Amino acid sequence: MEWAGAEMPVLELIRQRFRKERPLEGLRLSACLHVTSETANLAVVLKEGGADLVLCASNPLSTQDDVAAALAGEHGIPTYAIKGENETTYYQHIEAALAHRPNLTMDDGADLVTVLHTQKPDLLPNVVGGTEETTTGVIRLKAMAAAGALKFPVIAVNEAMTKHFFDNRYGTGQSTLDGIIRATNILLAGKTIVVVGYGWCGRGVASRAKGMGANVVVTEIDPVRAIEALMDGFQVMTLIEAASKADIIITVTGNLNVVDDRHIDVLKDGAIICNSGHFNDEINIPGIAAQTKSKRHVREFVEEYVLNNGRKLYILGEGRLINLAAAEGHPAAVMDMSFANQALAAEYMVKQGKALKNQVYVVPEEIDREIARLKLDAMGVTIDTLTAEQTKYLASWEQGT
Ligand SMILES: NC(=O)c1ccc[n+]([C@@H]2O[C@H](COP(=O)([O-])OP(=O)(O)OC[C@H]3O[C@@H](n4cnc5c(N)ncnc54)[C@H](O)[C@@H]3O)[C@@H](O)[C@H]2O)c1
Repeated sequence: MEWAGAEMPVLELIRQRFRKERPLEGLRLSACLHVTSETANLAVVLKEGGADLVLCASNPLSTQDDVAAALAGEHGIPTYAIKGENETTYYQHIEAALAHRPNLTMDDGADLVTVLHTQKPDLLPNVVGGTEETTTGVIRLKAMAAAGALKFPVIAVNEAMTKHFFDNRYGTGQSTLDGIIRATNILLAGKTIVVVGYGWCGRGVASRAKGMGANVVVTEIDPVRAIEALMDGFQVMTLIEAASKADIIITVTGNLNVVDDRHIDVLKDGAIICNSGHFNDEINIPGIAAQTKSKRHVREFVEEYVLNNGRKLYILGEGRLINLAAAEGHPAAVMDMSFANQALAAEYMVKQGKALKNQVYVVPEEIDREIARLKLDAMGVTIDTLTAEQTKYLASWEQGT
């Protein structure tokens, strides 16, 4: 936790202010986040800000058990999370976090909010609002709001520029490759790596894989993103074509059964498939299992499937986000900005929650810019400011030629 904290100067500044001002005083907060050393630093900040906080895991494979133990034992923050917990335990832990009767929720993927709405509606009147960390959670919450099912306002931390520009792109980019390397110890140079989805995460994964010497192919369903990938210098084709060339396929779409039965048929012998999107349903693992003669565990985080056609394929981390399953998730320096957004969004929700509708809100621009400014300060970078003349020029419609 200290090691991560040293790379989180923006969060540290917020901690110092929260300790003095106690903006979350008296608030019961249930957080469902990846239980990592970076999250632990956020948890400590929230507690020092006055929150009565409990934490549970937002994924069965992403917990760092030593961190969970330290939070519970040394910091007095009840933490319900065990790396490798099964689905039943995972949901029991979410229920334990909800038994705290939260006034504020903090979610990564919207599982906590979904269980709260579907199974514990009696707790809804206590809740002022929530925050949501990731793209998939934001999509789920927007669907709930559109259906009139969302019963409190939520701030989409993911939508902050200081979150997705950096965390999704540079954080997922680096840590996804880190997870693949730790799981397999394979050389990436010279391999054909297929990145499925060229969103914020996909852009990061593709550019880092290219930097490691891989031949990167991108597949997309969005024509604009496909052109962007092409102009960024990647080959773009359909997944069925790419799958036949792939040494490694990495999914980062937030979508369902992206790698499906028909792709499995054309894979090369020895192909590796993994996912860095939020849920473990991007790879159709039940579909693969149905075409499999035998399966064995060959290394930690590596399952070998011998297909009916005699070829072998390897699935990493049970199809769960590989950067958190086999590595340690995003580096702290990038989570510094994501979790600064979480802390400030929680404070904003306490102040403004009652005035908001039951909708999904973006992080206010002033918070986003303040985090960027603090991060630049911490990195020792000073930027220019507009002169009075420039400010006047940009605000005027009369000037020009
Ligand atoms: N591993 C992590 O630590 C981490 C971090 C941040 C986000 N995420 C998750 O990663 C996923 C992607 O996030 P993002 O911010 O990049 O989202 P995004 O919306 O920016 O990008 C997703 C892209 O996938 C494309 N896509 C959708 N279906 C596809 C298909 N069938 N084939 C090819 N492309 C397809 C979309 O067109 C889009 O361009 C989400 O589930 C998000 O929650 C994971």
